[in-house]
Amino acid sequence: MLNIIEVKNLTFYYSGSSRPSLENVNFSLPEGSTLLLAGISGCGKTTLLRAIVGLIPKFYAGKYEGSVYLSGKDINKMDMPEISQNVGYLFQNPDNQLFSYTVERDLAFGLENLGVEKAEAMKRIDETIQLLSLDYIREKPIFELSDGQKQLVALAGILVLRPRLLVLDEPTSLLDPKTAMNIINIIKLLKSKFGISAIIVEHRLELALEISDYILVMANGSVKVFGSTQQALNSDLQNYGISVPPVISVQRSLGFNPFELTVKDFVKRLNAR
Ligand SMILES: Nc1ncnc2c1ncn2[C@@H]1O[C@H](COP(=O)(O)OP(=O)(O)OP(=O)(O)O)[C@@H](O)[C@H]1O
Ligand SMILES: [Mg+2]
Repeated sequence: MLNIIEVKNLTFYYSGSSRPSLENVNFSLPEGSTLLLAGISGCGKTTLLRAIVGLIPKFYAGKYEGSVYLSGKDINKMDMPEISQNVGYLFQNPDNQLFSYTVERDLAFGLENLGVEKAEAMKRIDETIQLLSLDYIREKPIFELSDGQKQLVALAGILVLRPRLLVLDEPTSLLDPKTAMNIINIIKLLKSKFGISAIIVEHRLELALEISDYILVMANGSVKVFGSTQQALNSDLQNYGISVPPVISVQRSLGFNPFELTVKDFVKRLNAR
């Protein structure tokens, strides 16, 4: 199967830094699958995402070794417009992503930049506003929005571009649990309906397990664990500062294998015994 992303022997030092923020990172992600990226603060998650979307080394100076391939093509041989037609990158802080005066203008911004014609742009904006239930703030100035609303608008700004790969840096960090679950369900839907791939940094593992096919854990810029979600849950994630949800630790102590990934499925399995 074709890999949407392939990272080979990637090492990166931000300029002026004597320690690598990425050290010999290797992994690949099959097209259509979802990767959960985890690890403690400062381990290099955002840095890896920047390299995957080409911002490193294009906009961050430093020492770069290795390669990143997007659908088999070297990301360093692609320009930003080409990358952004394929990859939607949600920044860790939505304030860095929103430029326009109103929500609707902001959604139109990226489409205009890519030269999408007006009727098509309006259609995509309407669809995305529906999908994320943003109609009630459509005309609102960005500066009047709550942090959580900004996060949703930033996500909408990416979805209108119809990317094949979503790269989401803590997309639910500013959201209440219900809206966070909603985002997870939207990623699930985009995957099943359109085969969209995703790489997501998410601290709430119980949410992320609903969608992740693979888990990659980093520490000090290196990959410590990489495998299918089931394989990764069998390794000692606690050693890398990751809190394993109770539903998984209970199953570990009961010797379950494979694990049920949701409380609902776990209860079902218990009842079937
Ligand atoms: N623009 C930068 N210039 C120099 N060093 C940086 C820069 N951005 C990050 N770093 C350093 O690179 C390392 C990895 O940082 P990164 O932001 O990728 O971690 P992270 O896993 O995303 O952390 P968090 O969970 O807090 O978001 C850290 O040591 C950080 O200080
Ligand atoms: Mg980060």
